[in-house]
Order: sequence, then structure tokens, then C-alpha cells
Amino acid sequence: MDSFSSDQALRDFVTGLPKAELHLHIEGTLEPEMIFELARRNGVKLAYASEQALRDAYAFTDLQSFLDLYYAGASVLLTERDFHDMALAYLERVHADARHVEIMFDPQTHTDRGVAIETVFAGLASAMRQAREQWGLGGYLILSFLRHLSEADAFAVLEQALPLRDQYADLWVAIGLDSSERGNPPEKFARVYARCRELGFRLVAHAGEEGPPAYVRDALDLLRVERIDHGVRSEEDPRLLRRLIEQRTPLTVCPLSNLKLRVVDELEQHNLARLLRQGLCVTVNSDDPAYFGGYLADNYVEAARSLSLGRRELGALARNSIEASFLPDGKKKPLQEELDRYLAANSPSR
Ligand code: HPA
Ligand code: ZN
Repeated sequence: MDSFSSDQALRDFVTGLPKAELHLHIEGTLEPEMIFELARRNGVKLAYASEQALRDAYAFTDLQSFLDLYYAGASVLLTERDFHDMALAYLERVHADARHVEIMFDPQTHTDRGVAIETVFAGLASAMRQAREQWGLGGYLILSFLRHLSEADAFAVLEQALPLRDQYADLWVAIGLDSSERGNPPEKFARVYARCRELGFRLVAHAGEEGPPAYVRDALDLLRVERIDHGVRSEEDPRLLRRLIEQRTPLTVCPLSNLKLRVVDELEQHNLARLLRQGLCVTVNSDDPAYFGGYLADNYVEAARSLSLGRRELGALARNSIEASFLPDGKKKPLQEELDRYLAANSPSR
């Protein structure tokens, strides 16, 4: 295994790696500073006295303890400008690290507070189109259903969103499933996923973060997703693991999220490297970077440090992220070639 001469050398290598972010909740990019700024702008009262007091509350014990704060934070988002500002702040931060981003958003978190779905789409889309123009950073939107709500609610939000599909056809290509996993199995959403499939959307779902490997299997068989968000608990079921390897089903793994939500006690124990070495199409992503202490490059850097990943394996993770993206083959190919050139130019023998 090669090693880096310094932390900076590792960070520089990771930053320059051509790669994609595939598991990112835009509401999870709201930094405390922006939460307070939007609260002031919109006259929303917060339960925390200061940005620091809010940040101090980010001591999570599990997924639900995070989600409670995440939904409270999102309550400051009211206008199109708010959604635009949030998304642009993320895109500005990530454009040096990513060539392509696939962004999840939870419309129900906003429509349930009386924000029109048109407002959500318009703000996110204008930021993404600006990022495409300004930084050449392309991306897609993944409309995600909240699994703690009913399937009827998911059908309702889909109906609200469908009239906007043509207007945002360049961005909205996929459907996802997030929020509280335990007790909300994939089968609850089988019919709405079948409908989304008929409509031609690409499909992903969170599974095997806190939930059992059976949820990963059911996401594949009942929801027919192409990609699993998290999926780290798949390792507990050898048959499932073989299937994921054989089918090259991508897992969008989020190391710092898993650490902060206590899916693992220490990053050194994370199974990312084991899964990669067994031939799974694992990718590295940031999930909710404002809450978990790191954006895309930080997740690569921390994983590399804790799991002794060298240039070759970091390159493999970046290659997987391009392969697992929803980009058409014609757009994947130049990225893969750029990655090949980058790895050739930055090999340790040089
Ligand atoms: N898991 C489930 N739901 C979520 C997450 C997550 O990591 N982040 C935002 N919503
Ligand atoms: Zn997630």
C-alpha cells in the first residue's frame, strides 16, 4: 500500500479525484449559521439561543435523534430564495471536489408546513442550473419519500410533483426513500415504487443503515431499486452480499454519518474497505454534511486515514461513484477517462 507524505498530500489527492456525490440530503447541508440567518429573515423562532448552542446539540445517539434535529432545522425554509441559497451554498462548497452530484430532497418536510412544492423545486433547480453554468458542475435531483409517513402520503406528493416533471426534466430523474428506517420496511412503499418505475424514474432507497439486511433484499425485490443508500448491514447476510457483488448493485456509503449516528463505534471498524476489497460497488458520500462534520472530500480523507486506503483504492471508490451515477454512458465515459489520466499522473512512482 502506498502512503501519503502528509495529510495535505492526501487531501490534495482526494480533492482532485474526479468523482461524484450520490448520497446527499440537501436539507442536511443547512449549517447552523444559515439556519439562524434564514430564521431571522423569515421570523421563525428557534429552540436554540445561538449557533453554538445548536451545534452543541449535534450529539446523536442514533438515526432518530438526528432526524428530530434535522426536521427542526429545515423548518426555517419557506421561500424559493431559501431553497436556492441552501442549495447554492452546498454546490459552491462541493464544486472543487465533485464533477457530478445527485441530490435528495424531502418535499413532504416542506409541503406539510404549507410550503408549495413548486417553491421547493424552483429554488433547488435555479441553484443547480447556476452551478452548471458557473462551475460546470452538473447534477440530478432525487425526490425522496419520508418512510415514517404513509404510502398514501407518498402517492400524494408524487401527484403534486408530476405536473412539474417536464419543467425540471433535466434535473429530476430519480426517486428515493429516507427517514426512520426501523419499523418502516420497504414493502410499505411497493406500490408507489411500482408506479414510479412505470413513469420511468430511476429508483434508490435507504436500506441497511439501522434496518436489517432483509430490508436491503426487499428494497431490491419489492421496490426494484438500482442502488442502495447505506446498505452497510448487508454484510451480515453472506447470500445477500454475494448477490450485491454479482449484480454490482452500488451501495452509497457515508462513513462520517455512520460514525455520528453510531452505526459504527469507530471509523477504524467501518466495513467500507472490506466491502470494496470483496468486489462490491461501494461509493463514499456525505449524507448530511452540516450535521456529521464533513463534506465529500472529508469523508474520503477520514475513511482513507482510518482504513489505510491508498491511491489505488481511493481511485476505485471514485470510479465506482461514476459507474453508480445516473449519468448516461456518454457522460460517464469522459469522466472515467479523466479519472484514468488523473491516476496515471498521480501514481506514487512519479
Ligand atoms: N437516513 C435516513 N434518513 C435520512 C438520513 C439518513 O441517513 N439523512 C436524512 N434523512
Ligand atoms: Zn441518507
